[in-house]
Amino acid sequence: MTNSNDAKETGCTPQEKISFLRGLRQVRQFRAEPLPQGVVDAVLEVARWSGSAKNVQSWQFVVVRDRDTLGKLAGYEGFVSYVKDAVVGIVIVMDADDERNTYDEGRLSERMMLAADAQGVGSAIAWWSEQGAKDVKALLGIPAERRVRTIISLGYPHVEAHNNRPHPAQARKPLSELVHEERYS
Ligand SMILES: Cc1cc2nc3c(=O)[nH]c(=O)nc-3n(C[C@H](O)[C@H](O)[C@H](O)COP(=O)(O)O)c2cc1C
Repeated sequence: MTNSNDAKETGCTPQEKISFLRGLRQVRQFRAEPLPQGVVDAVLEVARWSGSAKNVQSWQFVVVRDRDTLGKLAGYEGFVSYVKDAVVGIVIVMDADDERNTYDEGRLSERMMLAADAQGVGSAIAWWSEQGAKDVKALLGIPAERRVRTIISLGYPHVEAHNNRPHPAQARKPLSELVHEERYS
C-alpha cells in the first residue's frame, strides 16, 4: 500500500496527467476478454478511498460477473442496455437518497472510471429509472430503503467501438462559454 505522497509519484508529467484526466470517455462497447481480479480490485480500492461529505462513506458495491445477471440488469428500465456486454458491472448502493449521497455517488463514479482508465479498461456510467432500480434491488437482494441508481460497466474497450473515435472539440462547450472571471455578470 502506498501512502498519499507516494501515490503522487506517478512518473508522469503534469501534462500527461491532465491529458489522462481530459481524455476520459464513456465506453459502451467491450471485448469479451476477462478482467484480471487485480484490475477490479484496484477500481474498488480507489472507490473506497473516495472523499465523501463528512467522510461518511455511505456506499456499498455489488460486483456482478454472471452473464445472466448482467443481461437481466441491462433489461430493466433505464439507459442501461449495453450493460449486457460489460465484463464486470459494479452496482453502486448508497445508504440514502439525499443531496449529499447523490453528490458523493457522482464523485465515486468518476473516480471508478478513472481507476479503470488508468489500467486501460473502459467504463461507463448508466442509470436505471426508479422502476428499474426497484427491479435491481429485488434481483440482487438490496434492501428497499437503499438508493440504487448507477451501474459502472467495465471491460476492455472494443477496438472498433465508437469510444475509440476522436473526441471532437465541439463535444464540449468551450471554456469561453463557461468561465467567468471574478464575477458572473
Ligand atoms: C450522472 C450521469 C449519468 C449518466 N447516465 C448514463 C446512462 O444512463 N446511460 C448512458 O449510456 N450514459 C450515461 N452517462 C454518460 C454520458 O452520456 C456521457 O458522460 C456523455 O455523453 C459524455 O460522453 P463522453 O464522455 O464519451 O464524451 C451518464 C453520465 C453521467 C455523468
